[in-house]
Amino acid sequence: MKAVVYKGSHQVAVESVEDSRIEAPGDAVVRITSTAICGSDLHMYDGRTDIAPGTVLGHENMGVVEAVGPGVTSIKVGDRVVLPFNIGCGFCYNCLRGFSSDCLTVNQAAPHAAYGYANMGPFRGGQAEHLRVPYADYNCLKLPGTPGDEHEDDFVLLADIWPTGWHGTELAGVVPGSTVAVYGAGPVGVMAVYSAVLRGASEVYCIDRVPGRLEKARQAGGIPINIDDGDPVEQVMQMRRDSGLQGALRPGEDKMGGVMHGVEAVGFQARSDADASQENPVQPLEDLIRLVNPTGQIGIVGVYPAQDPDGVDEAAKQGRYQISLGQAFTKGLRIGMGQAPVKRYNEYLRDLIIVGRAKPSFVISHRLPLDAAPDAYKNFDARGSEYTKVILKPEMAAAS
Ligand SMILES: NC(=O)c1ccc[n+]([C@@H]2O[C@H](COP(=O)([O-])OP(=O)(O)OC[C@H]3O[C@@H](n4cnc5c(N)ncnc54)[C@H](O)[C@@H]3O)[C@@H](O)[C@H]2O)c1
Ligand SMILES: [Zn+2]
Ligand SMILES: [Zn+2]
Repeated sequence: MKAVVYKGSHQVAVESVEDSRIEAPGDAVVRITSTAICGSDLHMYDGRTDIAPGTVLGHENMGVVEAVGPGVTSIKVGDRVVLPFNIGCGFCYNCLRGFSSDCLTVNQAAPHAAYGYANMGPFRGGQAEHLRVPYADYNCLKLPGTPGDEHEDDFVLLADIWPTGWHGTELAGVVPGSTVAVYGAGPVGVMAVYSAVLRGASEVYCIDRVPGRLEKARQAGGIPINIDDGDPVEQVMQMRRDSGLQGALRPGEDKMGGVMHGVEAVGFQARSDADASQENPVQPLEDLIRLVNPTGQIGIVGVYPAQDPDGVDEAAKQGRYQISLGQAFTKGLRIGMGQAPVKRYNEYLRDLIIVGRAKPSFVISHRLPLDAAPDAYKNFDARGSEYTKVILKPEMAAAS
């Protein structure tokens, strides 16, 4: 079968690899109809992980079940399914408590597993014609309709970025009426804005410096804040001072001039506010510690790895980052972080799509055949205005 293969820093190729097949009784093989490129893939593409050359990439996958092992009971050939990027067993201590992101049995080396990803086990990715899905009963989410219908591009976002954006708002404790700041207007940040709006937030600010991405955040219902227009924390505080809510303040509430809830959707490759040519992995977090009010909450879904060969300093190379913990403690902030347990949310978010209350596919800019992957990676890696989210379609004919 054809698949997108990691070749080395800034290099992927579409190659013929061995077909996916049933390897264990609980497996399914899925024919891929849509598979997305993720900001997380860019960490590998940028050479910031120890992913082995030759690995088939792709953890945001959906398609149609083509074969099932003898132990599969609830999924059958022909079912249309989307797969959470994390692979769980369904029976371990963590899976049973809803932490499918931290399955204890699927990956021998660590308490988490995913398709085609560094340090997440031996599983191949789905940027390919077919994908092997372990523990298919647990990992396949059934979908109505037929491939290529009006929900195809909404459903594929259930594999990762929408549940991940939702998880950011969950960790940040967003409820109706909340004031929220989301750092990053990449696909995950835009989905966090969208989720906050769906959860009934009153004001949702989104901070980035790329106009086309901020425009997607605006389409999601957010208020765009461009870092290049000045200190984003000050910009949000100024807007909050001007907002109608300020007329309702009680004594002392002027100390609450920021927002109550923050989402970090940038990760360790964050840029400095002062100089976009420089990385500052803690810039969004430092901003959020300033911006979130005393007693507020922050959810970190941007990735911070345990090792980064190109880290900005010796500490960062070992996954140690200096943040203003004292200020965070003094403010009594609650901070949550980690991989999104996609399976905890995907079913409910799917139903919002089916009944027409949500249509997250507005974030997608490109739908391309598998052969276009090398260019698509290069263009998405520029993190510019135009390539806001790319979906690969293995069954789409390559442009001749
Ligand atoms: N926790 C999870 O389960 C999970 C799942 C998917 C993705 N992620 C991670 O989420 C992060 C975002 O993913 P994405 O696909 O949106 O990536 P992306 O790289 O496309 O987007 C990142 C955005 O952050 C912006 N940015 C850079 N520095 C900034 C700063 N200082 N302040 C505000 N914005 C800044 C960039 O301009 C860019 O638009 C990545 O680290 C990715 O690995 C985590
Ligand atoms: Zn992803
Ligand atoms: Zn498990």
